[in-house]
Amino acid sequence: MRPLPHRTLLTLLLLGGITVACAEPNQPAPGAAPSAAAAAVAPSAADPHSYARPEEVAVTHLDLDLTVDFATHKLSGNATLDLDNRTGAQAVWLDTNGLTIDDVRLGGGGPASWQLAEPVEYLGQALRVSLPPGAKQITIRYSTRPEAEALQWLAPAQTAGGQHPFLFTQSQAILARTWIPLQDTPAVRFTYAATIRVPAELMAVMSAENVTARTADGVYHFEMPQAIPSYLMALGVGDLAFRATGPRTGVYAEPAVVDKAAWEFAETEQMIAAAEKLYGPYQWGRYDLLVLPPSFPFGGMENPRLTFATPTVLAGDRSLVALVAHELAHSWSGNLVTNANWNDFWLNEGFTVYFENRIMEEVYGRDYAEMLASLSLGELEQEVARLGATNPETQLHIDLAGKNPDDAVGPIAYEKGFFFLRTLEKLAGRERWDAFLKSYFSDNAFHSMTSERFVAILREKLPEAAQQVDIQAWVYGPGLPANLDRPQSAAFTKVEAELARWQAGTPARQLAAKDWSTHERLHFLRHLPAALTPEQLADLDGAFQLTTSGNSEVLAAWLEVAIKNRYHAADGALEHFLTTVGRRKFLRPLYAALAETPEGKEQARAIYAKARPGYHAVAVNTVDGILGWQADH
Ligand code: BES
Ligand code: ZN
Repeated sequence: MRPLPHRTLLTLLLLGGITVACAEPNQPAPGAAPSAAAAAVAPSAADPHSYARPEEVAVTHLDLDLTVDFATHKLSGNATLDLDNRTGAQAVWLDTNGLTIDDVRLGGGGPASWQLAEPVEYLGQALRVSLPPGAKQITIRYSTRPEAEALQWLAPAQTAGGQHPFLFTQSQAILARTWIPLQDTPAVRFTYAATIRVPAELMAVMSAENVTARTADGVYHFEMPQAIPSYLMALGVGDLAFRATGPRTGVYAEPAVVDKAAWEFAETEQMIAAAEKLYGPYQWGRYDLLVLPPSFPFGGMENPRLTFATPTVLAGDRSLVALVAHELAHSWSGNLVTNANWNDFWLNEGFTVYFENRIMEEVYGRDYAEMLASLSLGELEQEVARLGATNPETQLHIDLAGKNPDDAVGPIAYEKGFFFLRTLEKLAGRERWDAFLKSYFSDNAFHSMTSERFVAILREKLPEAAQQVDIQAWVYGPGLPANLDRPQSAAFTKVEAELARWQAGTPARQLAAKDWSTHERLHFLRHLPAALTPEQLADLDGAFQLTTSGNSEVLAAWLEVAIKNRYHAADGALEHFLTTVGRRKFLRPLYAALAETPEGKEQARAIYAKARPGYHAVAVNTVDGILGWQADH
């Protein structure tokens, strides 16, 4: 059976501003009226970014068997889906995006009738598979395309070792469907097993139980016994080594990086102990990290049992390990209690930033955590100023229908969500608040959550705090409510005093800044006045060695200052950074700052022409937008 040719398209519907093509099923359901056979293909009401209809038929288990082909940049094989047909429905609806479907079979091996709808931007193509009565399983034979957005295929030159290629996936938010046909909504959870076949000199790891050494034949078997949503499906393939950092923690990385990574992340076990003390047992068995090559578009990704991480946090002094606390915290907020759709992304990220801060406080102390909270507030205030305090994009609960959820990732969900929970903590008192959160995680473990339900639970369990906090303003309103609990950092107050001395003329070398941590440096850099003289820039650079900083956060903050003040002594460092690092959080402000002037935009375009082929699709989409870049440039 083949995808429907265009001539069988029945209707083009305009739904909520999106043009949705509607394909005629190739085998109308027995007894169905002809018009009913042409059901409109619309995203689900419960999740505007998925065509799945889990209320009718839900996927409960996935069995993958894939071959990884570095020559053609394709994955190919079979996905077998176990189905729970809850309503006696005659079809299951799946999400796909750019997959080549070869055939679909039923559990017994017989052919299944299936249709692919027309592609829709971001959402891809709905796949409808007809189910005869009693059908409980389907097997889809398929392959991915080289452009599949979840996948980044790296040439050996893009790796630390330089000898072997590398592949990694990034499924969040709606990219799992570019490498696996499934119900790509966070409201559906399934267990999975996988067989992955890779070249024998490489090792494969997944968001599942992993081995710690290469197999002889390049065949890897994985089991994921806990049910997860599709955005947590993950695969990495490369020349990997493993180092244990504790009884249930370790790191995977290229051999050239693994020892540095193991040192940097040596305190992970303590973080787990702190997290468990706060909000209950870690439910996923092991917690390992996979350190990726620098084109990884995120800081970290909370793939269960195996966080994927950028090497830009390997600062050599453990000063950027809050990222590990963050991804670990997702093992509760997000991976156990999951936003039901991306409109409530803050339930994943805001809770996680809050929990991250509490882990950091347990392990490194209150002063350290208050510095992090203060940096968070700075990012939040800057974002609200950028968007405008009445902009609906500054709401926690947002309406992303018709938008790509990946474009909506920013400080609001993270930091406003964090400060909402921090303010609730203050109102309820830490003891009652912690008891509330602990039961929230255990009562809702392995289930999805909406803002509405969270608010109902809060009103029931902590009525006074819920009453006082102004839920309407925090969750459904724009801007920053006045009761926001502001952090107090004595260390940062001192930094501000030194900054004032510097602005009054004290040379940077004479400031009491010798022992400043990464966070104090960041606070200083982020509070510099907007316009600086060439002498001031040279003074700072000379005293703090900013252009040659090995700390990615400090360097990125400095490069932004340098761009805005046309400090060309940093041009070489800027170009090197942008052509080696693909982390979107760094790329976005740097390209945006360059794009503000015509000369800067020229410089940006010249750098981007070199850098773009090395970026992941997620970063390419973002930077294309900033620079108005056409793909065929
Ligand atoms: N889950 C996110 C990354 C993500 C969000 C990927 C949305 C795709 C869509 C991850 O937990 C995260 O927040 N990463 C941050 C780390 C930071 C807040 C410590 C990042 O990548 O910068
Ligand atoms: Zn996160």
